[in-house]
Parts: sequence; structure tokens; C-alpha cells
Amino acid sequence: MITYIDQIEIKNKRVLLRVDFNVSLKEDGSIRSDERIKRALPTIQKLLSDGNKLVLMSHLGQPKGYDAKLTTERVATRLEELIGKPVAFVPFADPFNVPLDTFDMCMLDNIRFHAGEKKNDPEFAQRLASLADVYVNDAFAVCHRPDASVVGVAQLLPHFGGLLVKEEVEMIRKAIVNPPRPVVVVIAGAKISTKIGLIAKFLQLADSVLIGGAIANSFFKVKGWKIGKGAFEEDHLTEAKELLALGEHAEKLVLPVDARVGHEEMQEEPRVKSVEHIGSDDKMLDIGPATEKHYKDIIEAANTIIWNGPVGYFENPQFAKGTASIFESITENAQATSIVGGGDTLSAIKHLPDHDKITHISTGGGAMLELIEKGTLPGIEALEK
Ligand code: 3PG
Repeated sequence: MITYIDQIEIKNKRVLLRVDFNVSLKEDGSIRSDERIKRALPTIQKLLSDGNKLVLMSHLGQPKGYDAKLTTERVATRLEELIGKPVAFVPFADPFNVPLDTFDMCMLDNIRFHAGEKKNDPEFAQRLASLADVYVNDAFAVCHRPDASVVGVAQLLPHFGGLLVKEEVEMIRKAIVNPPRPVVVVIAGAKISTKIGLIAKFLQLADSVLIGGAIANSFFKVKGWKIGKGAFEEDHLTEAKELLALGEHAEKLVLPVDARVGHEEMQEEPRVKSVEHIGSDDKMLDIGPATEKHYKDIIEAANTIIWNGPVGYFENPQFAKGTASIFESITENAQATSIVGGGDTLSAIKHLPDHDKITHISTGGGAMLELIEKGTLPGIEALEK
């Protein structure tokens, strides 16, 4: 059982707080969506109002060593604006020098700048643990990673779950225990390699698995269709072939039938093409209107809907229509339990209305899907012990 911070008194302590401020960034480095920061505010506010001093830690991107473009300084600044209180930034040059004598709250630079983080190195975890009296994990979106700041420190300090972790775990577990059928899953995004296990799992659990994004390219490729300039992962074609066979046999895998094609920067209306007639210069950057309609019909009949990943290159509004249509189809189905998640998905839907018509919007992408798949996560297990 996890003890959450609203079930115990944590007062006047130094708290090491793991958050997931792995926000999506624009080309110029500015923050595209601060949703993940906002969702951690209740925990931060509660801990501060109980007289605690906080050392916040987060990753940003997947740096291998120090990378100035991925410093967490900008997210610390955004937190400061949102919470209206000073957040001291602790630069990587002096990474453990936390100024809690003069500040109530400080934020370490990107925790993944340290090699020990991804290795869950015991010495590094010990170094982090030495900064505080207790550990709180409110970083649901990274709970599927057995990293030092997620698992290692929990083994060294009294540990508690934050309010966001509580909401996420309770909502997602509730939705997956005997889910009302039909269960429809929409899986999209850039890389099939990160979704192979999940697609396989959902081909067993769900009634329909709708595919979007560049993931679809690998399936088209193994069907022998042209994908033009579209990206696909050569090393994972064998798995794509197996999934395709499995999905087609079970009549559950649903692929786009048409696509909006063009290039990432185009301003004019993209052409719509059937996926069977893609030219060598075409790049499929969104699902097309016929696919939108087909997916809408399936979503409309669902009683449980799980969605992860934008189905198009939503950063350009010309290719954001498919993603908006999936969102709209889900919000229009009032009888279904719907769970939507993932950092990019949150960015893609943030301007759209009716968020309250989704049962649960998860900050987790991989974490949400893995929790659904496995029923637990390394970061959750660490809090349970
Ligand atoms: C996410 O964006 O899904 C989480 O922040 C985890 O990030 P990661 O995939 O780089 O571990």
C-alpha cells in the first residue's frame, strides 16, 4: 500500500520531491505545454503550506551527459511564475548545493545529466537522499523507469506518494479492472519500437486497436506499400509483421485508409491520398478524412477508450486535424470511460475544448500504458515497499 501525503502528517521537513516536468519544448526552447507543471502544483502547495522545504528534481528529454538545451532552469522559472513564490535553481556545476537556508524551494538541474540516474547507481541515490529527510514521488509519468530518483532514493528515505500519483494510479486502475466493452485503444506516435509490447498486449485485451502517426508506416511497409519519404524503423519490421498478422487474424488492428501528405513546414492545405497510392516524394503527416470518419464510428460504439499519441504532426496546424478529430470523437462519446495520456498528446489537445468530457487525462504516456499493461510500475512498487 502506498501512503499518500494526504494520509500522513509531513511537517517542517526537508522533502526530496520527484516531479515530471519533462515538458514538450518548441524549436526555440520555450515550453509548448506547461500542463505537467500545473498538475504537480497541488502537491507542491500542500507540502509548502505544511512548513516543509522542498528539493525538486526532474528530468527533461533524454540527455547523455550535460546539454545546455535541456537544462531545467526554464521549467523552474515557469514553476515560479505559476506558484508565485521563488524557486532557487541549483546549477549542474554545483549540483548538490541546495540553498534551503534562504529558500523554501529549490530545483536541481536536469537529473539525467548525472550518469548515475539511469543506472540507478546506489552512490548517486545516496547522494540525493542525503539532501532531505523524506522522499515524495509525484512524477507519475516517469514511474515506469527504474531510475535513481524514482526507485533508488525511495529505498533510502521514508517515502510517500504525491497527490498526482494518487489520482493517476486510482483512476487508471479503476478504468482497467473489468472494463466495459467494447474497449477501443488508439495508439499513435513516432516510433513503433516503443509500442510493440503494448500493441501486442492490446491486441489481446482490447476489441479494436486503431493505429496512427508514423507507427503506421512500419505496417504499410510490411504490407509492401510505398510510404514515400515517411519514417519507419528498419530494425523492427519483423515485429511489425508479426503484429500485423496477429492483428489481422483477430480482426482488431485498424490502420489508416488515407493520409494528409506534404512536408512539415507547409502552410497550404495538404493533399489527401489513399495510403495505397503514396508517391515516392510524399510524406504522410496526418490521417485523412476517411480515416477520421472510420475511427469516429469505432470510437462512438466504445464503452472504454484509451488513447496515447497524436495521430499526426500536430505542431503544424495543417496536420493537427486528425488528432483534433480523435479528441472530438472521444469527447462526444458520453457513455464511455475515457483515458487519454502522454506528454505530446497533452500538448496536442491543450487548445481544444471539453477536457472535462474525458474521464481522466493522464500526464503519463509510457507510464500510463505500462500501468494498464502490467498493473504496476517500478516507481509505484518502490513506494509500496
Ligand atoms: C514521458 O514523457 O513519457 C516521461 O517523462 C518519461 O520520459 P522518458 O520516456 O524519456 O523516460
